[in-house]
Amino acid sequence: MARILITSAIPYINGVKHLGNLVGSQLPSDVYARYCRARGHEVMFICATDEHGTPAEIAAEAAEMPIEDYCAEMHTTQARLADGFRLSFDHFGRSSSQRNHGLTQHFAGRLAENGLISEVVEDQVYSAVDGRFLPDRYIKGTCPECGYENARGDQCENCTRQLDPVDLINPRSARSGATDLEIRKTRHLHLRQSVLRDELDSWIDSKSDWPILTTSIARKWLHDGDGLQDRGITRDLDWGIPVKRGEHPWPGMEDKVFYVWFDAPIAYIAATAEWADANRLPEESWQRWWRTDKGAADVHYVQFMGKDNVPFHTLSFPATIIGSGEPWKLVDYIKSFNFLNYEGGQFSTSLGRGVFMDDALDVLPADYWRWWLLKHVPETSDSEFTWESFRLDVNKDLADVLGNFVSRVTKFCRSRFDGKVPEGGTYGPAETRAIDELVARVSAYETHMDKIELRKACSELREIWTVGNNYFQAATPWQVLSEDRDRAAAIVRFALNLFPLYSVLSEPFVPDAAATMKSVTSCDPAMTWPDDIRVAVDRLRPGRDIHVPDTMFRKITEEEQNDMHARFTRQ
Ligand code: 2FM
Ligand code: ZN
Repeated sequence: MARILITSAIPYINGVKHLGNLVGSQLPSDVYARYCRARGHEVMFICATDEHGTPAEIAAEAAEMPIEDYCAEMHTTQARLADGFRLSFDHFGRSSSQRNHGLTQHFAGRLAENGLISEVVEDQVYSAVDGRFLPDRYIKGTCPECGYENARGDQCENCTRQLDPVDLINPRSARSGATDLEIRKTRHLHLRQSVLRDELDSWIDSKSDWPILTTSIARKWLHDGDGLQDRGITRDLDWGIPVKRGEHPWPGMEDKVFYVWFDAPIAYIAATAEWADANRLPEESWQRWWRTDKGAADVHYVQFMGKDNVPFHTLSFPATIIGSGEPWKLVDYIKSFNFLNYEGGQFSTSLGRGVFMDDALDVLPADYWRWWLLKHVPETSDSEFTWESFRLDVNKDLADVLGNFVSRVTKFCRSRFDGKVPEGGTYGPAETRAIDELVARVSAYETHMDKIELRKACSELREIWTVGNNYFQAATPWQVLSEDRDRAAAIVRFALNLFPLYSVLSEPFVPDAAATMKSVTSCDPAMTWPDDIRVAVDRLRPGRDIHVPDTMFRKITEEEQNDMHARFTRQ
């Protein structure tokens, strides 16, 4: 048994997330967390809301709410939707927690003691129309790297380059649209990540098993142009974590807060401490996940995120951790994702384009979405959501294969075997063939899941379901029954035995369907991850009552597909 720490990139607080956000970190991390638990590992699975910075300010302003209230309300909403999608976080914290205030100030203090913070008088963009400095996201303009015209002041969404607002060409205020922006001087703290360049470089080099997507982005920012730049970690904003040096005031920084990207990843640690607080556990209980001097040396730490988050997690956050000089746990594996597009364009929060988590659950239950999203998770390239693809995959994979199998077997058992696990007969060549195929496929499934290759795992799982469906179809117990009741009994018993097995294997992808399959034949002791498929398919005691579930997956009609397309494709 291993100890596995899993974090998902923490979603911005500014509104309900769309399916592109969901599939880029929270959902795949949940699949992996569920799989690791099912394999018997000790798992700590952490996420939170990312509550600071300009996105939060802008959203609270638009909602005409005090920002604290806005964040509290949206955190509750996001937590409810996470539950709705069955995201199994051990804790869904908040980057605005007192724990994060303390830890962020602590890290800044340590970095300063180690000579890794410089105070720099910076030129910042000031807008007389807005009456304030315009940090990062309040400024839009043309990316100096790729020419994208809608680049934000903190990062270009198009080419992932980390930016400073003053880098933008033709900058404008994202709040007022004002273009008469002036440059004013203001003093800020910079993280001297360039000092750690060689250390970060060899650390990335040592990660030969990381996805190319992750290492290529890290290398690009380590080596391109002048190499790794020092970065401002403070901002002229009211909302955020006040700049302090540990617990002490930081002279000259009284009215400033830490930059959202400085405190956000630290919130992974803070949210684990919040988990301990919520469960009234001692400090050691969270420290054993994060401090290598307190038990975390044998933790395997995996992060999940979209590709736009990679620079912060491969360079800035490790610079914070390494630069602290304290024994904090560094990430062991970074799984990053490309983007999901929507019907020929991009998902867009600002334009309300695409399907958002709340609307999705209004339309259909979580498993339908989880299945489609994971089948098309943008692992090796961008992928695209279309309503037609959604209808076809739900109907083919969930309704025709898995749902159909469960329904046929349970209904046949109810009508011909009195709703009990049938007695009599023995397994023969057909069962041996099915078992052999399952042995090979489950082993392939495990390999893919261990490597977090979710598309391959998803397709293998579908094949595992197909083995059962094809087996039952070919075995024709409805024909065999009149001549050889014992043989028919063995067929139905074998098929019923597949449900607890399928339940355990499917749970990471479709947890509600897994619970339904489990309920067909409540097993005692409960089924766990199968060490031996032959044993796993011969566990049910004859005579046991079975439960016939309601339709597990319904089909989506073409008419519904068109209605949903029309309803969601605004713009
Ligand atoms: O891209 C985003 O949604 C960011 N809020 C992710 C932050 S991840 C981490 F640093 F906490
Ligand atoms: Zn760019």
